[in-house]
Amino acid sequence: MPVVDTDFSVLSEDFAAAPDRYFAALRERAPVHYEPEIDSYFVSRHADVKRVLTDHELFTTEMLQVRAEPVMRGPVLAQMTGAEHTAKRRIVVRAFTGSALQDRIPVIRARAEALMAPFLPLGRVDLVNDFGKPFAIHATLDVLGLEREDWRQVAVWHGGVAEFITGLNLTPERRRHCVEHAEQLEAYLLPVIEQRRRNPGDDLISQLCTAEFDGIAMSDRDVTALIINVLVASTEPADKTLALLFKHLIDHPEQLAQVRRDPDLLGAAIAETLRHTPPVQLIPRQAKEDTVLAGTTVPAGATVFCMIGAANRDPDAFSAPDTFDIHRPDLGTARSFTAAAQHLAFGTGLHQCVGVAFARAELETVAAMLLPLLDQVRYSPGFRYQEAGLYTRGPVALSLDFTPVR
Ligand code: HEM
Repeated sequence: MPVVDTDFSVLSEDFAAAPDRYFAALRERAPVHYEPEIDSYFVSRHADVKRVLTDHELFTTEMLQVRAEPVMRGPVLAQMTGAEHTAKRRIVVRAFTGSALQDRIPVIRARAEALMAPFLPLGRVDLVNDFGKPFAIHATLDVLGLEREDWRQVAVWHGGVAEFITGLNLTPERRRHCVEHAEQLEAYLLPVIEQRRRNPGDDLISQLCTAEFDGIAMSDRDVTALIINVLVASTEPADKTLALLFKHLIDHPEQLAQVRRDPDLLGAAIAETLRHTPPVQLIPRQAKEDTVLAGTTVPAGATVFCMIGAANRDPDAFSAPDTFDIHRPDLGTARSFTAAAQHLAFGTGLHQCVGVAFARAELETVAAMLLPLLDQVRYSPGFRYQEAGLYTRGPVALSLDFTPVR
């Protein structure tokens, strides 16, 4: 087990290369690790993370004014509380659940098939860069009702916004660069919002434009922030989870064979992927007052990062936590996509992900479409697996070979 001593830093290259190598040592020896360079605390035990995410009085999301608002161009759901949060969250939830979700599944499948088609005769695809990233953006643009032809430009702006939110120690230049991207995204969205106010359709932007909160329609600023909120929240983790799912299945051929034989196991495979390698590794909160966590006093006003990856590998929450096992009894597929989930990949408490049902349907649909096409799937010769990211984390690329489809 690597050492977590006074020199240890979550900002070090060693940690960035393989954070999971340090999870056990952090949980055991430094469950509330202080990082002086960014004046923040990192919490790694499952019970402590759960407490931080569910004690909304003691741990707030106030720091998002600084960490998110400059690029979201207004307040996001995670900053809201009470009736405002409930009402606005409900509008977003409605677009991603029930019949709205069922209607979207054929569109998701069609998009995925079209994006995959050029790679089938080649027998080779980079599941992250050729397929996953464009697919995740396309799927979100469809829900929002934005033009698909704009996806490359939207992806670039989205990259700037995501970098701002997930960067732990960005330089002032990088922050400015990210804010410029967000301003361009806002300038792109404002005429769309104006058009949907005049002529609403059945997309999420129209629903946000026509919804009222306390009898008052949302301002352009509020609608813009919620659009960017959904764009970033739904795109970033989706392609990472898809690539991680395939990586785990390729690394465990017996489990891949079982999923091929019984695609109903895909839900369990996705849930276990989210537990084992959650794409959102950190969730920030701010301590409202001095609070003792695992014996360490976290001072009022301090930023606390919940380490989801470490919490999901806590042996107090899951047996043999480092093992990828789609049959593990302590996960529960149905439960894994609800507020009662034992894994914390979607967060927990008031701000638990609103896209849980959509994420499951999206990933199950795409994986069920891909599996029969990717016959004899394996890593391409010479491919070296590498992950990146501390806040959100996933494969940099996933080059796969398979039997070409003519
Ligand atoms: C595998 C896919 C996904 C993962 C792992 C994931 C993860 C998360 C996590 C960890 C949070 C909690 C943040 C916090 O507590 O501060 C969250 C919140 C959120 N997610 Fe997701 N997400 C996924 C997909 C989606 C999708 C498809 C959408 C589309 C709507 C979405 C929209 C949101 C929104 C709007 C929030 C904020 C909710 C609130 O503050 O009330 N996510 N997500």
